[in-house]
Amino acid sequence: MSSVLKDLRKRIDECDEELQRLFRERLAIVSEVASYKKKKAQPIYVPQREEEILSRYQGLEREFFYNILRLSRQKQSLVLFPYNIVLIGFMGVGKTSVGELLAHDLGRDFIDLDAVLEKRLGVSIATFFKVHGEASFRKEERILVQELEQQLGLVLGTGGGVVLDPLNVSALQQQGRLVLLTAQKETIYQRLKGDSSRPVLGGDISLETIGNLLKQRDLLYTDAADLTIATDNLTVEEITEQIIEGLFKLEDQVTRG
Ligand code: S3P
Repeated sequence: MSSVLKDLRKRIDECDEELQRLFRERLAIVSEVASYKKKKAQPIYVPQREEEILSRYQGLEREFFYNILRLSRQKQSLVLFPYNIVLIGFMGVGKTSVGELLAHDLGRDFIDLDAVLEKRLGVSIATFFKVHGEASFRKEERILVQELEQQLGLVLGTGGGVVLDPLNVSALQQQGRLVLLTAQKETIYQRLKGDSSRPVLGGDISLETIGNLLKQRDLLYTDAADLTIATDNLTVEEITEQIIEGLFKLEDQVTRG
């Protein structure tokens, strides 16, 4: 290697060391902010504050600070809620859209189990059900759940049938708090009618099929849940806010109890 390149790399390494020192210092302060917010149950993501910081920067620097802010949110969220946040509930309750926003606000990665399975299986879930049957799908789902049990600090969106297997529930509970999203059957019907991607509801989605399946699963969902949010008439933003408030309360009970 030429001595010029060697020298430039040495200077880059020095910059990185300095960045690392400052980043650590920033995260330590962020942890203090998290402890303060815990006492007051304040939100982790404060858009005005982040915009105020980002407005000082442009281009690559803005992108750099955008990522710093995301990682700082993640740090706060791990101090406050040191576990996976697992969304469970029937089809159409909004697990995916809520999961995406929740993950954003907590600076975490969002993993949608069905999306990972579709990628892995190479076909849509509806097609997989048709070709291989439900039992094969459940097997693949179980394998993925066991794999994800090893990871920490995620927001997980599960498929509506994940609670059918008690092994899935106990695996998800190992590293996570389970947040149940519910909705009235009428709400679910309005959201799902005409949707052909839900094999367990059959081709022609009816209020009756939804009602029957909800009844069958109701206890499985409520037994598994640490926290329940009724989503009817709420926006994705409101549901996300309620989840964070609920998690604060849950933590409070754990520390007091
Ligand atoms: C299922 C729900 C689906 C998907 C599969 C089975 C179920 O996920 O996992 O079609 O049994 O309720 P969503 O709840 O995300 O639709």
